[in-house]
Amino acid sequence: MIEVKDLRKVFDNGFEALKKVNFTIENGDLVCLLGPSGCGKTTILNLIAGLLDPTEGNIINDGVTMVDKHPKDRDIGFVFQNYALYPHMTVLENVMFPLRVGEKKIPKEEAEKIARKFMELTSIEELENKKPGTMSGGQQQRVAITRALVQNPNILLLDEPLSNLDARLRLKIREEIRRLVKEVGITTIFVTHDQEEALSISDKIVLMDEGVIQQHDDPQNLYLEPKNLFVAKFIGNPVINILPIEVSNGKIISDAFSFDVKNLVDTRFKETLTEGKYLLGVRPEDVLVSKDSTTFTANVESVELIGRERILNFAIGATNSKSIVSIDEEVYEGDTISCDFNYPRVFIFKETGERVY
Ligand SMILES: Nc1ncnc2c1ncn2[C@@H]1O[C@H](COP(=O)(O)OP(=O)(O)OP(=O)(O)O)[C@@H](O)[C@H]1O
Ligand SMILES: [Mg+2]
Repeated sequence: MIEVKDLRKVFDNGFEALKKVNFTIENGDLVCLLGPSGCGKTTILNLIAGLLDPTEGNIINDGVTMVDKHPKDRDIGFVFQNYALYPHMTVLENVMFPLRVGEKKIPKEEAEKIARKFMELTSIEELENKKPGTMSGGQQQRVAITRALVQNPNILLLDEPLSNLDARLRLKIREEIRRLVKEVGITTIFVTHDQEEALSISDKIVLMDEGVIQQHDDPQNLYLEPKNLFVAKFIGNPVINILPIEVSNGKIISDAFSFDVKNLVDTRFKETLTEGKYLLGVRPEDVLVSKDSTTFTANVESVELIGRERILNFAIGATNSKSIVSIDEEVYEGDTISCDFNYPRVFIFKETGERVY
């Protein structure tokens, strides 16, 4: 188990990149560190790997403190965004390299054998004699991952390993990475700013913003039960609709609709919905379009077809909004639609971002 405790990082220029970050990772889990550019993802990886020293806090792996260990003694494999292969070496030499240096150096034949075993696992055997400059980005990244695994590290750190690859290859290699790390059973931290990538491969996601963890959860919970407005907006594509509302006299009122608070079937938070201003969050798939709906009508400004679904763009009052409907719903640009919300699946946030329903 990796325990990150009260981890804080202030850089020399005084910038606080991490503000007391706490999380734990179970052995063998694949965890994504997710968040927008600059939120501190790489800083966390660098602290775990020992490439940076923390200002405060601790990192403990299976009960052993890591922060005062030399990077070499931390038993970590690190894969960077830009492959970082040795250009003058062949693939086999690149993969063997970690086994042929330092105190734990092993004989050449043995190193070759281990390297070949892992190259088979990542399907790069045929590339054995190639040099990095002659290979595609996807091939180079496979080599980099193989080189990280060959030392049999305790932890694998991957910093946006797919961001230089085209969209189709990214899908393919992310599936391969998941299969591979599960096969090897290695604890893996995968950094990405792509929410869809994180949702698709993770056991758990740590979602960060500005050096603070916003939610550490199962992928599904991040989507279904966002803790705050930031999480709701960061997870999901198309992005969630956020509508300004006011709660007054048992009604939820906006510039386009009004409905009874009673419509919110889930009674858990009802009493906390005191009168005042809030933000209503509705995912595009929870804006239901039908003939006999009552909540509001809207004029469809544009329609995007994405495979089996259509994304409808329209205004709810003054707010640009989206609905996602099946291709079977024959809705076109210029149509007037009647809409309802899928009430149990709406969220209500305070204007400060805290979720109250
Ligand atoms: N050596 C440094 N000195 C000062 N500030 C730094 C230093 N390194 C990083 N930062 C700042 O710390 C913050 C976190 O950086 P970090 O590289 O961890 O972000 P990130 O989440 O990995 O972003 P990206 O998705 O762009 O890679 C950023 O605002 C960055 O500008
Ligand atoms: Mg980064």
